[in-house]
Amino acid sequence: MKNIDNSPLDLMAGIHSTPARRYLSDKKIPEKIIWSILDAAIRGPSGGNTQMWSWIVIRNQDTKNKIAKWYLEGWNKSYGTKREQFVSDIDAKNNLGRKNFLSAEHLANNIQDAPVWILAVLRNTNISNNPRTGSSIYGAVQNLMLAARYYGIGSTLTTLYSGHEKQVKHLLGIPTDAMTMALIPLGYPAKGNWSQPKRTSVEDVTHWEQWNNYKNQ
Ligand SMILES: Cc1cc2nc3c(=O)[nH]c(=O)nc-3n(C[C@H](O)[C@H](O)[C@H](O)COP(=O)(O)O)c2cc1C
Repeated sequence: MKNIDNSPLDLMAGIHSTPARRYLSDKKIPEKIIWSILDAAIRGPSGGNTQMWSWIVIRNQDTKNKIAKWYLEGWNKSYGTKREQFVSDIDAKNNLGRKNFLSAEHLANNIQDAPVWILAVLRNTNISNNPRTGSSIYGAVQNLMLAARYYGIGSTLTTLYSGHEKQVKHLLGIPTDAMTMALIPLGYPAKGNWSQPKRTSVEDVTHWEQWNNYKNQ
């Protein structure tokens, strides 16, 4: 397989250049690429290899518009009210930071224009009280986003629609035992770069053998 510029994309290079991409064009994504991305997703791990996941590919504009409204409502509730705080955060005290806030705001207002959405669904979860339930799909979701990266397609793991979980399930006919775990809008980037995601350094979050035993400090 080849990267979009026809050169192979090294795995570590891909991992280190897959930030959330929220400025997406409406350029069509070929169906065989959607299949390939999903085929990479389902290679991910699940407890006992139960593979209780399902993936809903959403391209229908009416469906996207309906869910986008719920998503925007979620955005306004969680972040919209804190706009001033984030936008004036010039020294980026909070982890999201001004740039990411603005990109997330853009996505909240334009998510319906992303050409393909993938809804990650996990069966037998809606009555689960296991706090690790989601871990049986999030590895697969990460595979999905890395496979999208391979094809030069941007993605973001999103959940802000989930205040309307019931309505989303009803709209899409999702079985009652299942829960939606993430909505991943996909699209060729319209703005921004495949830059390395900014994180607290690995040394600062790695303990050796015992809690609080750091190296290089
Ligand atoms: C559980 C979870 C929920 C998320 N929900 C949203 C969301 O609803 N909307 C959004 O724009 N980003 C969402 N994100 C993406 C995070 O904001 C993003 O991973 C983080 O800011 C790091 O971005 P970066 O990889 O570009 O540095 C979510 C990520 C996770 C893991």
